[in-house]
Amino acid sequence: MNMRVGVLTGGGDCPGLNAVIRAVTKSLIHHGHCEVLGIADGFEGLMGETPRARPLVWDRVSGILHMGGTILGTSNSANPLKDEATLEQVRRNVRALGLDVVVAIGGDGTMSLAHGLQQIGLACVGVPKTIDNDIAVTEITFGFQTAVATATDALDRCRTTADSHHRALVVEVMGRNAGWIALHAGVAAASDVILLPEIPFSMTSLYETVLARAKMGKRSSIICVSEGALPEGGKQVVAKIDPTSPDPIRLGGIGKVIADLIEKDTDVESRHVVLGHVQRGGTPVASDRVLSTLLGNHAMTLLREGKVGRMVAVQKGCLTDVDLEEPAGKQRRVPKDEPLLQAAKAVGTSFAD
Ligand code: F6P
Repeated sequence: MNMRVGVLTGGGDCPGLNAVIRAVTKSLIHHGHCEVLGIADGFEGLMGETPRARPLVWDRVSGILHMGGTILGTSNSANPLKDEATLEQVRRNVRALGLDVVVAIGGDGTMSLAHGLQQIGLACVGVPKTIDNDIAVTEITFGFQTAVATATDALDRCRTTADSHHRALVVEVMGRNAGWIALHAGVAAASDVILLPEIPFSMTSLYETVLARAKMGKRSSIICVSEGALPEGGKQVVAKIDPTSPDPIRLGGIGKVIADLIEKDTDVESRHVVLGHVQRGGTPVASDRVLSTLLGNHAMTLLREGKVGRMVAVQKGCLTDVDLEEPAGKQRRVPKDEPLLQAAKAVGTSFAD
């Protein structure tokens, strides 16, 4: 194998990106005559007048497995397919760097861009990431388990302070339009109510749970709410619109709305916490480091076999790969028959539906 491979991280960061960069780089070097270049700030590093990239050698990627963020930097607004001039610049930069293929580590947006580039002859391989775990055609993404562990720890802490004060505490977690983080962390922390984007919730049902718990002598109610949770007949709460992003809607704020309503309508003192980007930062948990290493190594296997235009994936618990086009425009949301929903209900968790 004699090739020059560019590696970039695109979209929002997540724990485990450095572990993939390390795995791709080391396994490529390990398996043969291969040079690896790290491209700065996602596709942005290929869009300027001069490319921004640096060699990734064995030592450069040593000692980064456990680090959060990405040593390459990222961008969630760079669009190499923006117009013909940008595309031509990207082509020039890829030629100048002598890249045979680009490994794009990112979310659904990055996979769509990689697919677009592949279509016009720039070879790409994708590695899916996101704390939201919502990429179609792969059943798990790295970063998710770390976000769940962080959110679970926060929910546990909220329980002790809420218990001390006889309060309802509403904890808002990330996840966009998929409720995976809320569902897993909510179950792991024995939240009393879990609110997901996939199951519209009723405030009346929520009040009933909070009041019933107070009547039973329970000292607190913990409500784990996904930022995309949807009140019956209502709308998601939008924190802001980011016009520079291909995915401009930023959800957030539902936690405060719910906490204020509980306090007003039930007289149970209520507080809210928004976990926000704390869930994205910090060191990846062991299972994310392992998954990142497996996915990075599988990307290397694809390159060795000359397979491009593919995204590595996990299906039925096994490593595989799919056409880069497959996840585009799709989202993996919590299905109605998700076993964890049934298990949560069976132990008394309410979804306020
Ligand atoms: O997709 C990952 C994610 O953290 C979502 O859970 C969240 O809605 C969004 O990104 C936040 O984006 P930003 O970092 O641009 O605020």
